[in-house]
Amino acid sequence: MSDIHQFEGQITTIERFILDQEKAHPEATGALTHILYDVAMAAKIIASKTTRAGLAEILGSTGEENVQGEVVQKLDHFAERTIFRLNDHTGLLGVMASEENDDVVPIPQRFKPGKYVLVYDPLDGSSNIDYNVSIGTIFGIFRRVTTEGPGTLEDCLQPGNKLVAAGYVVYGSSTMMVYSTGEGVHGFTLDPSIGEFLLSHPNIRIPAKAKYYSVNQGYENYWSEGVRRFTDWVQGKDAGGPGLSLRYIGSLVADFHRNLMAGGIFYYPADSKDPNKPYGKLRLLYEAAPLAFLAANAGGAASDGRTDILDLTPGELHERTPLFIGSKDLVERVEDFIVRYDV
Ligand code: AHG
Ligand code: MN
Ligand code: MN
Repeated sequence: MSDIHQFEGQITTIERFILDQEKAHPEATGALTHILYDVAMAAKIIASKTTRAGLAEILGSTGEENVQGEVVQKLDHFAERTIFRLNDHTGLLGVMASEENDDVVPIPQRFKPGKYVLVYDPLDGSSNIDYNVSIGTIFGIFRRVTTEGPGTLEDCLQPGNKLVAAGYVVYGSSTMMVYSTGEGVHGFTLDPSIGEFLLSHPNIRIPAKAKYYSVNQGYENYWSEGVRRFTDWVQGKDAGGPGLSLRYIGSLVADFHRNLMAGGIFYYPADSKDPNKPYGKLRLLYEAAPLAFLAANAGGAASDGRTDILDLTPGELHERTPLFIGSKDLVERVEDFIVRYDV
C-alpha cells in the first residue's frame, strides 16, 4: 500500500520559515522577523491591487462602492503608502527611505523609533503598469548606526555590505517574494486563495550555465567601448562568446528574477544619453544594493563595472549607479572589458 502522502511536498508559509530562521539565532530579538512579516503583508496588499491596476480608470469612473480610493491612485503611490502604514508604528524602525520621497521618511514622533532602517522602491517598473507587464517591489534592511532619537540620513546612507536582509516581490504571472538574511536566498509564491506566501524555491542558486543577457540595446550608441565590446562578446559575435539570448522586460525586478533563476546577466550601464545622469538610471541604495545582496547570497555578483556594488556607500539617497548583476563569470568578464577598453 503506497503512502498517499509520499508525493506531497511540505507546506511552509513564509511566516513559519522566517520564524524558523530566527530560532537558529538564540541572540535574535525577533525584530527582524517582524519587519519581514510586515514587508510580506505589504506585498500581499499591493498584490491584491496589481491584478486590477489596468481597471483603475474604469472602476474609478463608475464610482463603484467596492472601489477603494487607492485603486484609482497611481499604484506606486498606493504601494508607497502601504509600506509606510505597515511600518511607521511598529517601534522597529528608526527611519525609512523610499524612491518616492526626496528626503528620508521619518517615523512619526508619536511612535517609538526602533533599531532598524528600511529602504525600498515601492513599485519598480512603474512605466510597465499600463501595459500589463510584470512589476515589483525592492527592499533592504539595515541596523541603525546612530544610537538614540529619531533615525537620520546617516542611518540610510550605508553600503550594501551592511545589509542584514534584502529582497524583492515580483508581481507577475504569480506573485513571488524572494528574500535573504544572509543564509541563502529563498522564494515564496503567493496563493491568493488563502493569502499566504508558500515556500516554493528554497536555497536559490544562480545556475552555473547562463541562458540570457538583459540590457536595453536601444541605448547602445550611448555606451562605452568596453560595454559595447562585452555585448558583442556575450552575443557570440566574438570568438569564444557564449551567444546568449536577449531578454529585456524593462522591469528591473522581473529582469533580475529571470537571471537569478535561469542564469545570466542584467546590466544598465552608464550612458551618455542624459548628461545629468551619467551613471545610468538605477539607484544604488534601494535598487542595486538589495539585489546585489541577493545575487551574492545566490552565488552571483554585482558590480558598477569596476567595484562590487556591496562596497559602494551612497553619498545621497537617490544616487544612481551603473549596474551589472547576475552570473559571477559574466560580471567579472564585463569588468575585464571595461578595464581594458574604457579610460
Ligand atoms: P522605477 O519604475 O522604480 O523607476 O524603475 C524603473 C527602472 C527599472 O525597473 C528598469 O530596469 C529600468 O527602469 C528600465 O529603464 P529603461 O526603460 O530606460 O530601459
Ligand atoms: Mn525601480
Ligand atoms: Mn519605483
